Amino acid sequence: MSRPSITVRSGHPDFLDLAWEQSIVDWDTPRLLSLPKGISRHEVRFVDYEEGIYVIKELPYKAALNDYRVLRALERLEAPAVTAVGLVEERYGDPGAERSAALITQYVDFSFSYRELLEGAGFGERRRQMLAAFAGLLVELHLAGCFWGDCSLSNVLFKHDAMAIEALMVDAETAQLHPELSAGQRQHDIELMVVNVAGGMADIAASRGVDIDEADICLGEEMARWYEWLWDETTSETIIAANERYRIPERVRQLNDLGFTVDEIDLIPTEEGTKLRLKPNVGPRNHYASRLRQMTGIEASEWQARHLLSDIYHFAASQGGKPASTAGVRAAALVSKKRRGMALAAIRWRTERWEPASRQIREKTDQDNILQAYCDFLNYRFHASNAAGADLGQEVALQSWFDAGCPGFAPEPEAAPHQHNL
Ligand SMILES: Nc1ncnc2c1ncn2[C@@H]1O[C@H](COP(=O)(O)OP(=O)(O)OP(=O)(O)O)[C@@H](O)[C@H]1O
Ligand SMILES: [Mg+2]
Repeated sequence: MSRPSITVRSGHPDFLDLAWEQSIVDWDTPRLLSLPKGISRHEVRFVDYEEGIYVIKELPYKAALNDYRVLRALERLEAPAVTAVGLVEERYGDPGAERSAALITQYVDFSFSYRELLEGAGFGERRRQMLAAFAGLLVELHLAGCFWGDCSLSNVLFKHDAMAIEALMVDAETAQLHPELSAGQRQHDIELMVVNVAGGMADIAASRGVDIDEADICLGEEMARWYEWLWDETTSETIIAANERYRIPERVRQLNDLGFTVDEIDLIPTEEGTKLRLKPNVGPRNHYASRLRQMTGIEASEWQARHLLSDIYHFAASQGGKPASTAGVRAAALVSKKRRGMALAAIRWRTERWEPASRQIREKTDQDNILQAYCDFLNYRFHASNAAGADLGQEVALQSWFDAGCPGFAPEPEAAPHQHNL
């Protein structure tokens, strides 16, 4: 009998208490959790540890190894995918057998697959945003050189991220990483997605007893149009006239609205000298999240981090610190002084604003996602202050938000400009 070998990244359980010599289907450990999930070819189980919830997928060795390697590489490239935590090998004599290996990933809290959403409530008012998030995920993976080969409604997870939607890749069994993808490879991946999505929509219709003609089997094509638009938006070079520079921030904002961060803009004079070439380089989506983590140690998703960082800036401004004098101070020193000031403000923000507010939210409400609830409150404070024509102040605004029943964000009206006709 073969002895399973387990590779686990540090900071996680060793998973040695699980019965790896058995199929995960036969497990009866009290760690098992029953959680919603998408349709899958392989067996998937959720297990609960003190360190968090993990997802175990049983599959043949080759596929598991590819899944693990690609997910690890995507993490290094900061592309949006689930986090691979471990790989279990040699569970069974035959490495081609279904249960010869297992992949362990970190469970993405508060996430659902597109398939589950479409089987249930549907997109509703967030349709455009959901489509943009799905297409945005493919753009990011393609920018990272990842050919997926199996993008489907079950293989894309989403979670609410303040008022944005964050889409994540799950299942990289068929994925391949290249230094760069050709237009043909990208197109092939999109074609596979369109077929998979149509199949998923047809299955959903069938399971509901709805006629196939009524199923939205063109949904994948709509996603493909979003993808094309977003790909052009993030990679194309635009010639703009010198007096049209106002278009630059507008374009950056459009990308930000779709969840992208523009880290760099190259403004290159063209030969005519009157026009500029604009080329936004789209940075990783966790730009603000890493900044927040650096400053406060708080782990938030990208949209939440954007809101929390503006709260820190708001807090720092309300502290009314004296501006640093430039006299006799070299620019670099000034920058580091400013950074230090902001770092101190972030520490005080944490103890004076974030911790008291999160404590109150925990005590006075039944919200289980405290970060999201705090973002809801920040949004409320902004609108209430705006309506009052004055800054309400943290305590007053917080009480008023509790009194109002802790309202969240209104669904975002539109995620992309009308003129693109999407
Ligand atoms: N890390 C995770 N966090 C949350 N849910 C997950 C995670 N991993 C898997 N799931 C859920 O389990 C389902 C199946 O996982 P996965 O797609 O990896 O299995 P599969 O058998 O390879 O699927 P396929 O049939 O597409 O090959 C997903 O659709 C998702 O709902
Ligand atoms: Mg899958």
